[in-house]
Amino acid sequence: MDVDRRVAQHYRHGNLRASIEAGLHQLGKSSEKVTIEDLAPVDEFHIGGRSASKHFLDQLNLTQDMSILDVGCGLGGAARYAAENYKAHVTGVDLTPEYIDAGQALCEWVGLSGRVSLHEENALSMTFENARFDSAYMMHVGMNIEDKRRLFSEIHRVLSPGALFGIYDIMQAGSGDLNYPVPWATSAATSWLADAEEYKQHLENAGFVIVGEEDRRDFALQFFEKAQKANDVNGGPPSLGLHILMQHTTAEKIANMIGNIESGRIAPHEIIARKT
Ligand SMILES: C[S@@+](CC[C@H](N)C(=O)[O-])C[C@H]1O[C@@H](n2cnc3c(N)ncnc32)[C@H](O)[C@@H]1O
Repeated sequence: MDVDRRVAQHYRHGNLRASIEAGLHQLGKSSEKVTIEDLAPVDEFHIGGRSASKHFLDQLNLTQDMSILDVGCGLGGAARYAAENYKAHVTGVDLTPEYIDAGQALCEWVGLSGRVSLHEENALSMTFENARFDSAYMMHVGMNIEDKRRLFSEIHRVLSPGALFGIYDIMQAGSGDLNYPVPWATSAATSWLADAEEYKQHLENAGFVIVGEEDRRDFALQFFEKAQKANDVNGGPPSLGLHILMQHTTAEKIANMIGNIESGRIAPHEIIARKT
């Protein structure tokens, strides 16, 4: 199986849309009466969920009617948030067909299909014309992509001059093998971590200048601690949560992720770059 198929296979659920609908029903909601806030616990597949998206996207100077690219959009939670919050037009691309199918349904449920479109595409070879977008971002995707040089060149190609590109990825922070499985990979076979210096070097080689960066390790550990406390108080995870995406391996993946961060091997990190 080629790499793209292995990555998509890792994220494949089998019955995702119905599982999200079942979670909604448990909350007393339905697809006709759902908001992007209701969906945030399940459709933001990165450390810190919606609050991480707000912190990250606020740095991109997004404004009304901008055309924005979400690279590796998953179910499109951040894309819908950006469309609603900044009144922008957001295009998402992702390798995993089931995420695109379910994500499009979620856009219809919340009435955002006119401003958010999601497409099954590989970020390494997108079909968009040069300079198509005013800004782009990528959240927790680079860990699945070995060829970051090509990835950033491709994103640079589809951005207009002066556009900002934000990355919020899990990056290598120290030495030592990771404990697997983790949320983005079952084993090292589909995991390609790089440290922040490597990211910045690839970005600069592709034609970006770095305008900001922030280590989000402390934020991540506080987020996990709060989530664990809430689970303890409530006797388990909420009806809608990332356990729906990760299914029976959720506890193991989260425990490994926390252990890998606590031991200093990885950390979530933001980088903001500008196309020159
Ligand atoms: C951990 S999920 C994050 C999803 C989304 N960015 C979010 O934060 O909710 C990683 C996503 O990257 C996608 N992905 C990995 N490699 C990709 C590639 N080469 N092109 C497009 N999407 C890719 C996967 O299919 C998956 O949906």
